[in-house]
Amino acid sequence: MQDIINQTINFVKTTLADAEAGHDWFHIERVYKTAKTINKTENADTLIVALAALLHDIADSKFNGGDEEIGPQKAGDFLASIDVQPEIINEVKLIIKNLSFKASFGEITYSSKELNVVQDADRLDAIGAIGIARAFTYGGFKNRVLHDPEIKPKLQMTKEEYKNTTAPTINHFYEKLLLLKDLMKTQTGKTMAQQRHDFMLSYLDQFYAEWEGKK
Ligand code: ADP
Ligand code: NI
Repeated sequence: MQDIINQTINFVKTTLADAEAGHDWFHIERVYKTAKTINKTENADTLIVALAALLHDIADSKFNGGDEEIGPQKAGDFLASIDVQPEIINEVKLIIKNLSFKASFGEITYSSKELNVVQDADRLDAIGAIGIARAFTYGGFKNRVLHDPEIKPKLQMTKEEYKNTTAPTINHFYEKLLLLKDLMKTQTGKTMAQQRHDFMLSYLDQFYAEWEGKK
């Protein structure tokens, strides 16, 4: 099993060598570590959790013309090339397909303990100190302003609106980051999310105080 995991790590590192900072190898490594932490109390299948965590962003649809099939396909082709069992490949592909926040706008057709573990781990990387850093990195990449008091966050967005928003980065906290805590599926994920959520709330308090030039 460790051999399959090591080969996958090498494949992901090579493939993501030029990825942007929000979805680089270090994001994958954090999600992989967090998934292992969560799985200590969930007892989902170790190999499926590891492979899905490692391969979940192998091809982000945002950077592939919105095609949400490329990621699972690419992951599946790689796993087949190193002779992983078809049943395992199938599970990993389903998890990747169902993982993204955008996927949660659609109908939920698949669920598993392994998906819950990896999804919680991926969502945890979008909140807390790392989540804040990733949001501003993404905003900078898209040339967004930090904050604009005139532009209010949109709390209910369709999948299209979410994909095409050009709102300030602070709005993203209200449109996504502060909502993630309540979407956690596992007990350990919930506990970790609460702590990171509270950190974001105190970050926002400080942000607005500084914005107003308060002493
Ligand atoms: P993930 O890889 O966690 O499924 P996404 O691909 O949606 O999530 O986003 C990657 C990172 O970029 C996340 O940390 C997310 O919060 C951030 N991000 C996505 N959309 C925006 C946005 N409109 N403004 C700021 N940050 C964003
Ligand atoms: Ni991710």
